[in-house]
Amino acid sequence: MPKRPRRPLRCRHCDQKAVINMRQHKLALCGPHFVEWVHKQTERSIKKWRMFTRDERVLVAVSGGKDSLALWDILLELGYQADGLYIGLGIDGGVHYSDQSHEYIRQFIAQRGGDLTLHVVDVAEVYGASIPQAAQLSRRGRAKPCSLCGLTKRHIMNRIAREHGYHVLATGHNLDDEVAVLFGNTLQWAVGYLTRQGPLLPPSHPGLARKVKPLFRFYEREMAAYAIVRGIEYVYDECPFAEGATSIRHKELLNQLEAQSPGAKLHFYLNFLRAREEHGLFQTVQEQIELHTCPTCGQPTTNEGQCAFCRTWERVQERVGALPHTPQGANAP
Ligand code: AMP
Ligand code: FES
Ligand code: ZN
Ligand code: ZN
Repeated sequence: MPKRPRRPLRCRHCDQKAVINMRQHKLALCGPHFVEWVHKQTERSIKKWRMFTRDERVLVAVSGGKDSLALWDILLELGYQADGLYIGLGIDGGVHYSDQSHEYIRQFIAQRGGDLTLHVVDVAEVYGASIPQAAQLSRRGRAKPCSLCGLTKRHIMNRIAREHGYHVLATGHNLDDEVAVLFGNTLQWAVGYLTRQGPLLPPSHPGLARKVKPLFRFYEREMAAYAIVRGIEYVYDECPFAEGATSIRHKELLNQLEAQSPGAKLHFYLNFLRAREEHGLFQTVQEQIELHTCPTCGQPTTNEGQCAFCRTWERVQERVGALPHTPQGANAP
C-alpha cells in the first residue's frame, strides 16, 4: 500500500508550518512563536533565579558561537543593558578559528546597527603569547591548551567585569553543556564542583561579578534553531582542540539517552538543582571552602599565595623570548 505523505508539523499556536518540534515539551512551533517562546523562557529563568534586573549592567561573554550570540540577542530584545566581551585566544587550527569567531561578532553588531559596546581582549597582545603558544611554553611541549584556556578566560572575564563595573557576567552555556559537565562530575563524585555548578553563582569574593547562565534550560538544537530563525550567522566549528574531549563523549552518550527518553537531560539537571536546593545536598561542603586573595591580581584563589593564572602566565612570560614571534605590548598579569 502506498504510504500517505506525512502532514508537515504545525505550530501549536497558529497552525503555520513548524520550524522545530521539541519532543521533551511536546511542543512544535513556527518561527515567530518559537522566538517568542525562547524570550519568555529566558525571562522566566532570569526572574526565577534572580539573575539580574533591568537596572543592572550585564557583560555577555561572546565567543562567536550560536549560544553566546543568541544570548546577547535575547537580552537586548528583552530590554536588558547588555554589552559584549570577546577574548581573542589566537587559536588557528587551520580554519582561523579565532579570527572567524571575531568576524561573526562584528557581523552581529553591524546587523544591529553598530551601536553596541564590545570589549575585546586579545590574549597575545595583552599577555605576550597566544593560548596555544602559552600552553606549549608553560608545559614544555604537552600541547593541549584547554585547561590553560579555561583558566585564562575566567580570569579575563572577572577582570573586565570588575574594571568596567558590571554587576553580572553572563555566559552562553546551554543545557547540553551543563548536563555534560554534571554527568562528568557525578561520575567522579567531584563534590567541590557539584557544590558550585548551577545557573547562578553568587560572587565568591568582593569585587567579583555574579555569574549567570540564562540559557541553561535550552537544548543545543533549540539555540541553533533560534540563531537560524533570527538570521544570526555564527561559527559552526568546535574549537579544534576540543576533538576527543571527554565532555564531547559524554554529550554523545547523553544524546542516546535523550533519543530513548525525551526530556532525560532536562530532568537530570533540574532534579539535581532541586536536590541541592530543597534537600541540602552538598551543603556542608559549601561551608568548608575557604578562599584567599591573590597578591598579584586580587582575584580569589583556593591556595594561599599567587593564583594559578598569575603563576602560569609569569612562567610563560619568562619563557616568551623563546617564541619565534613575540607580540608587542606584553603586560604583567
Ligand atoms: P565554552 O567553554 O567554549 O563551551 O564556552 C562557554 C561560554 O563561554 C560561551 O557560551 C561564551 O559565553 C563564553 N566564551 C567562550 N569562549 C569565549 C571567548 N573566546 N570570548 C568570550 N567568551 C567566550
Ligand atoms: Fe580554549 Fe578550545 S582550547 S576554546
Ligand atoms: Zn505559530
Ligand atoms: Zn592572580
